[in-house]
Amino acid sequence: MAILILCGEEDPSPWVSRFRELDPSLDVRVWPRVGDPAEILLALVWNHPRGELIKYPRLRCIASMGAGVDHILSDPLLPEGVPITRVVHESLTRSMTEYVIMAVLNFARDMEKYRLDKQAKRWAPKFPRPRCELGVGIMGLGQLGGHAAVKLRDLGYKVLGWSRTQHHMQGIRTFWGRAELEQFLSETDILICLLPLTADTEGILNRDTFSRLPRGAFLVNTARGRHLVEEHLVEALDEGQLSGALLDVFRHEPLPSDHPFWSHPKIQITPHVSSLTEPWEVASQILENYKRVLQGLEPLNEVDPERGY
Ligand code: NDP
Ligand code: OXD
Repeated sequence: MAILILCGEEDPSPWVSRFRELDPSLDVRVWPRVGDPAEILLALVWNHPRGELIKYPRLRCIASMGAGVDHILSDPLLPEGVPITRVVHESLTRSMTEYVIMAVLNFARDMEKYRLDKQAKRWAPKFPRPRCELGVGIMGLGQLGGHAAVKLRDLGYKVLGWSRTQHHMQGIRTFWGRAELEQFLSETDILICLLPLTADTEGILNRDTFSRLPRGAFLVNTARGRHLVEEHLVEALDEGQLSGALLDVFRHEPLPSDHPFWSHPKIQITPHVSSLTEPWEVASQILENYKRVLQGLEPLNEVDPERGY
């Protein structure tokens, strides 16, 4: 039996090397050099070709190369009943928290103002807003959002969290469901999106959402490009409802060179690097799942396809 890697434009070689280091006897294949499709037990995927995964009659696990599974669930032709798993790893979590803290500190400590002051050779000190008054609102309190929320709380910020179901977290004001979204937004000065992309969350960063934030709020989207309605962001920035945005994810990646975001003065861009999956660190959990399904056990870190995450 074998593991098959299907990863679009991504380079599969770090995965292959790491798997071979972990278990030299492992049969690892890279699409399209599949061999006998009946020998594939686990497919490790990132932006796989649509309709491909129904071709493997003994497939027992579809493993996402990352934390998100929207790239799998958007395939209309998935084999029925095959468990779908995702990566959950402390290095991914820590790295996302680091990025979120970096974004919050830049905003809280007025770094954009000082960048502009430097260009104008202007010496203009300003007291930062007290941490306990600056509302950091995190959409999504899962592995990533939940960890970032705790660390920001520990730094003394006023942290608010929004999720689908109710959460209780010490020192963090939590809100849940659509009914409480407006209240959550009304106290959020810096909005951080760490939601999975699902039918419910697609386009959630839109004109209406922005209009409920205090004027001059800042947006950080590090979840998925399709959470954001791009024209609504530009509109909110141009009319001053939002003071800026830091975007790590986009509808089309790489972001096309003629995209207006590149030249917008209030938009900062990073190329989907807020938390990178390191094959060196996470291949062992894919291997563990391979061994589990080989023994007829359920894989770990399974998602619920109905819920979408
Ligand atoms: P989790 O599944 O652990 O957490 C998801 C959170 O979102 C949960 O708190 C969940 O609520 C909440 N949620 C889901 N649907 C809704 C909804 N309709 N309304 C309100 N809240 C909702 O995911 P992770 O934290 O591990 O990852 C989140 C996303 O981050 C990934 O799906 C991926 O898209 C993105 N990501 C981006 C990376 C990057 O490099 N840019 C790297 C890694 C991940 P509840 O707790 O109630 O279930
Ligand atoms: C992920 C990602 O989902 O990198 O892990 O976006």
